[in-house]
Amino acid sequence: PIALYGADRKNSMGINLANENDLRQLAEQINQPLRYTRATPLVPGYSPSGTAQPITSPQDRRQKVGEWVAADALGVAKAIDNAQGAQSDWDQRPVAARAALLEHAADLLEGRIAEYMALCTREAGKSLLDGIAEVREAVDFLRYYANHARKLMGQPEQLPGPTGESNQLHLHGRGIFVAISPWNFPLAIFMGQVAAALVTGNCVIAKPAEQTNLIAYTAVRLLHEAGIPEAVLQLLPGDGATVGAALTKDARIAGVAFTGSTETARAINRALAARDAAIAVLIAETGGQNALIADSSALPEQLVKDAISAAFGSAGQRCSAARILLVQDDIADKVVHMLAGAMDEITVGDPALMSTDVGPVIDQDALNMLNAHAERMNKEAKLIKAVTLSDSTAHGSFFAPRAYEIQSLSQLKREVFGPVLHVLRYAAKDLDAVIDQINGTGYGLTLGVHSRIDATVQKIAARAKVGNCYVNRNQIGAVVGVQPFGGEGLSGTGPKAGGPHYLARFVTERTLTINT
Ligand code: NAD
Ligand code: ALA
Repeated sequence: PIALYGADRKNSMGINLANENDLRQLAEQINQPLRYTRATPLVPGYSPSGTAQPITSPQDRRQKVGEWVAADALGVAKAIDNAQGAQSDWDQRPVAARAALLEHAADLLEGRIAEYMALCTREAGKSLLDGIAEVREAVDFLRYYANHARKLMGQPEQLPGPTGESNQLHLHGRGIFVAISPWNFPLAIFMGQVAAALVTGNCVIAKPAEQTNLIAYTAVRLLHEAGIPEAVLQLLPGDGATVGAALTKDARIAGVAFTGSTETARAINRALAARDAAIAVLIAETGGQNALIADSSALPEQLVKDAISAAFGSAGQRCSAARILLVQDDIADKVVHMLAGAMDEITVGDPALMSTDVGPVIDQDALNMLNAHAERMNKEAKLIKAVTLSDSTAHGSFFAPRAYEIQSLSQLKREVFGPVLHVLRYAAKDLDAVIDQINGTGYGLTLGVHSRIDATVQKIAARAKVGNCYVNRNQIGAVVGVQPFGGEGLSGTGPKAGGPHYLARFVTERTLTINT
């Protein structure tokens, strides 16, 4: 094991893919038929009245992988009542006891990596490598926040008492937290939000993305098995516009941890502000319009390799993914040529095969959005390359990864959430203007820089308004506790997930002064 975030904690190891035996066993486990699961609301004392809806695989819509039942208004009300009843006991439980439950859950999850990878592949279309990364990150969040909470809340902070008084700062949970999560990290982000809110003493109502209810349901069941009481952590599957909106309108909600699009974050912000209630906390991690800047000192082979993994890895469905490659004109022809050649090597297909680089996009809506974007780009930009899809992709929501050369950043109005890279040339004298344009998008999530010139790197890093800047490597795959992750501006409110300041947003501070 490698100690990546401090001597007292280690990141999850995942699976050693160099070991053929382990790999074969893993493939066998993953290719077992999934246990048929119905993802229902997990709310004590409530049974939903709605009918079950099928969950099908993005890789092949003929494959039914489970079913789910949405909650209704009664479910929302009951969940909030339950959480209200459980809040005080949970907050008063010692933080060490809450942290121990999370660590137990981490151990259970790590032991079931194949089961969760299979779920990520079948329900979310994740490749095997992405599935491993997903489980590892979820485990890391559980352990990292457990460890941090003990340090943050284990003892009240003793403050000076110059007049002979005793002064202490105590931290408590804020109350009921709603965790609203996206489909693109259906386990890791789901678990990260829930773990942070729970360990700091909040009851949690989780509203997962409509596309990944099975993963969320299985994760909540695991947390219950680890010892989190059922009224302390509840699950409300349902549409964002109905169940999500009903939760954020309720005056009893103390905070919302949200990850998803910038538009939805704004809607939640408005709903919270419109309540006649105490001001709630909103932690929003949202979209990006992420650039990769390469000057003429960049190593073209490394640049192309990193651009491909950052733009097309996970089918481009990462908020951190590279969308725009800004390449200095002196090396642009060479880079474009190499990019087109390297794209010929990308394999798109069944995400359960180790040989697959890019799996499906999440659903037909995502595919329609990407097709509409491609149609516009075909008219307005120059196609560098589109990967050829094989016949095996006919029944799923597959989109051929592609790269276009564009003339101006103004051609990209909003985040295009999929495997599309836009290449734009710039002249060395215009570097400052390029940074201004990137900042001018208003988004500020990730930035990649490929340059061997220290002064250029320092200048870009100092001026770019982004949460995560990566130099001479790819710009995806932040590791918990190692690269705290999150953006600014249209990309989010902070604090950074997997970083030392995250938990502080989930607590309220109380000063206790005793005149002795
Ligand atoms: P989305 O905004 O459509 O949905 C996210 C969640 O919000 C879902 O659970 C949805 O049901 C819920 N929701 C929708 N409308 C709601 C409403 N009115 N009230 C309450 N809840 C509502 O996003 P998505 O398509 O699931 O995820 C992709 C987006 O997430 C991309 O923009 C991506 O960049 C972003 N993302 C950001 C990060 C980050 O860390 N910054 C990480 C992953 C994804
Ligand atoms: N944390 C994820 C990444 O860094 C989104 O790619």
